Amino acid sequence: MSTHQTQVVIIGGGPSGLLLSQLLHCKGIRSIVLEKHTREYVLGRIRAGVLEHGFVNLMREAGCSGRLNREGEIHAGFHIAHQGRLDRIDLAKHTGGETVMVYGQTEVTRDLYEARDVMGGVILHDVQNVQPHALKDARAYVTWEQDGAAHRADCDFIVGADGFHGVSRKSIPAEVLKEYEKVYPFGWLGVLSETPPVAQELIYARHERGFALCSLRSRVLSRYYIQVPLTDRAEDWSDAAFWTELKRRLPEQVAGQLETGPSIEKSIAPLRSFVAEPMRYGNLFLAGDAAHIVPPTGAKGLNSAASDIYYLYHGFLGHYLQGDSTALDRYSEQALARVWKAERFSWWMTNLLHRFPQGTETDLRLQRADLDYLFSSEAAQASLAENYVGLPY
Ligand code: FAD
Ligand code: PHB
Repeated sequence: MSTHQTQVVIIGGGPSGLLLSQLLHCKGIRSIVLEKHTREYVLGRIRAGVLEHGFVNLMREAGCSGRLNREGEIHAGFHIAHQGRLDRIDLAKHTGGETVMVYGQTEVTRDLYEARDVMGGVILHDVQNVQPHALKDARAYVTWEQDGAAHRADCDFIVGADGFHGVSRKSIPAEVLKEYEKVYPFGWLGVLSETPPVAQELIYARHERGFALCSLRSRVLSRYYIQVPLTDRAEDWSDAAFWTELKRRLPEQVAGQLETGPSIEKSIAPLRSFVAEPMRYGNLFLAGDAAHIVPPTGAKGLNSAASDIYYLYHGFLGHYLQGDSTALDRYSEQALARVWKAERFSWWMTNLLHRFPQGTETDLRLQRADLDYLFSSEAAQASLAENYVGLPY
């Protein structure tokens, strides 16, 4: 067995793990990232598209913001289509000038990989059977296999940034971990197409036939979603059927402008609210999707992962550079306080805009009243805007 020595082992080479390793490296703290899949596979996943300004600041601090600054689009507002109307939420007006940035998770991940390569960061791909050990001892270690050979890394800490299905959360004893979960009775069918976006800003649509979202990645790349039953399969949706259904859920003036084309990616994501507590067990810290999932309606998945990384990074800085572990000890409490607010917001946005299969007439009237209230109250719009641009860290 080959043995490695490091300070922090990071399980998972998604955006959480890569961002943390890059931030730590910039401050002289050593880490190894262990990723189950190939780099091509990780970069092939199409996921989030809206970044909070806090995320953008972290990318700047990590020295990874060159392309993001040039190619990311600043959005000062978005639209909600409902009852035949198209209303706008002015993010900047209600938040003292705050905005969000439209820049795909794929590009974030690509930029982080490039920065790690330039600094000679250690990212091991295609690793199998990753297992954290000695979580309650003075030093922890992680074992894994690669190309048929066994490896071990001794470390001070392990960060579980290995997503919802990873091994890290599962290594916390069941009697310690409490899981909170809500599964929604529908999914999102997403299509990426090389067509100009239908509008400059995002449009979230609430419709009798179900939710729809018009998003984008650039001036020539669009991302669209429609709510579908969980029993649907992406391969059963032809491009033509997708475009027809999307248009039916959009206001006429928007549908009339929609440019369609062949899909270059099509997938269904189930919707779930999930939180695991605590986010620390001994030497193991959970971050990002490994600890929590939100339905994508509020664009908070990737952004909540980034806020975990912010708290964890500052915890490690205190521990390693100032010999003060107070922030590290408060990690779980601080991260969870913000996570639960993102969970609440995402759950509220999901309830506001989706068609619930078992919903009653009363539910529909309450939903309509929620939307009417939103667009009749500056305070309600300010609350939405404050959450959408991202609560402070
Ligand atoms: P991940 O991106 O999941 O990264 C975890 C990494 O760990 C992966 O690369 C995985 O291969 C690796 N891994 C897993 N198990 C192991 C193991 N045992 N050993 C080693 N490595 C392991 N958010 C939005 O805001 N908007 C969206 O539209 C949106 N769409 C989504 C669609 C899908 C299908 C999914 C799954 C998520 C979506 N999200 C969206 C959420 C957002 O993408 C996540 O919040 C974000 O990816 C979290 O980053 P992460 O690094 O914590 O986890
Ligand atoms: C996306 O562009 O993929 C996206 C944007 C906003 C959301 C969810 C997904 O709320």
